[in-house]
Amino acid sequence: MNMQPSQSPPPFPFDLEDSAAYEAWCEWKLKDYPTRLGDLVVEIGDPAALTGAEHDALLQRVRKTNMALYASARGNDPDKGLIRALGRRFGLERLDHNMCADDDAITSLRVQPDALHQGYIPYSNRPIAWHTDGYYNDLEHQILGLLLHCVQPAARGGANELLDHEILYMQLRDLDPEYIRALMHPRAMTIPANVVDGEELRPARTGPVFMRLPGGQLHMRYTDRSRSIEWRDDPLTREAVAELKRLLRTRSPYHFEGTLQSGQGLVSNNVLHTRSGFEDDESRPRILYRARYFDRIGGT
Ligand SMILES: [Fe+2]
Repeated sequence: MNMQPSQSPPPFPFDLEDSAAYEAWCEWKLKDYPTRLGDLVVEIGDPAALTGAEHDALLQRVRKTNMALYASARGNDPDKGLIRALGRRFGLERLDHNMCADDDAITSLRVQPDALHQGYIPYSNRPIAWHTDGYYNDLEHQILGLLLHCVQPAARGGANELLDHEILYMQLRDLDPEYIRALMHPRAMTIPANVVDGEELRPARTGPVFMRLPGGQLHMRYTDRSRSIEWRDDPLTREAVAELKRLLRTRSPYHFEGTLQSGQGLVSNNVLHTRSGFEDDESRPRILYRARYFDRIGGT
């Protein structure tokens, strides 16, 4: 992939009333867009001590696709400090202390059969459908930056599909800009309250699917699940959601798929992703570290 550090997108392309800005952005976005998973991968030494060249190579990919992958020399080193240090190099500071995170707010994703995690699919070996992280957070606490680091892959399975949410926005807007208007509606998608044994652990959350951040960037809040989700009840929203789901399921050159190996990880602006089901070798269970931030990758 040939990308110069000076290439930056035209500003504010996500205004539905400004089609000239949008078209300029589409042209920039699709020019030299990666088509192979390998184009997203940067070989690095230590995630906790990136060289300037490693940092710049990762950042260039994130600027283009909202994601980059690294393959480091740390192998299955379980040091959680490395993910914190990696995030800091990209301006990621404000971690989400979600309910299931460890004390340091970095989550160890592994199969955990205990009570707190029961019912939470990320802590099982079951597949996870397309989503962005933290779609159930309130709108003031959306997850803009997401890091994953693999300590130990599963014996079988545990692959991730990845899709840049800006590409999905473009595909939908090109079908019909009214789909975008429907999905930007402040009541487009409601996640019902999380109630366990009569206790409300989290209230219902209502908000748009696509939203523009104060800096003009695009953020997406989405889960592909069909139960425990309420869509705004109008024909255009139903049609937009049906098209969105169809596009997610239609393999395209923009859909990437891979399985993180020991020492490998994802640096992203919380792009759409899935996880396939997996089987562990009991002596070496799958362990991924996950850090969720209220910050985007700096400079994107
Ligand atoms: Fe996720």
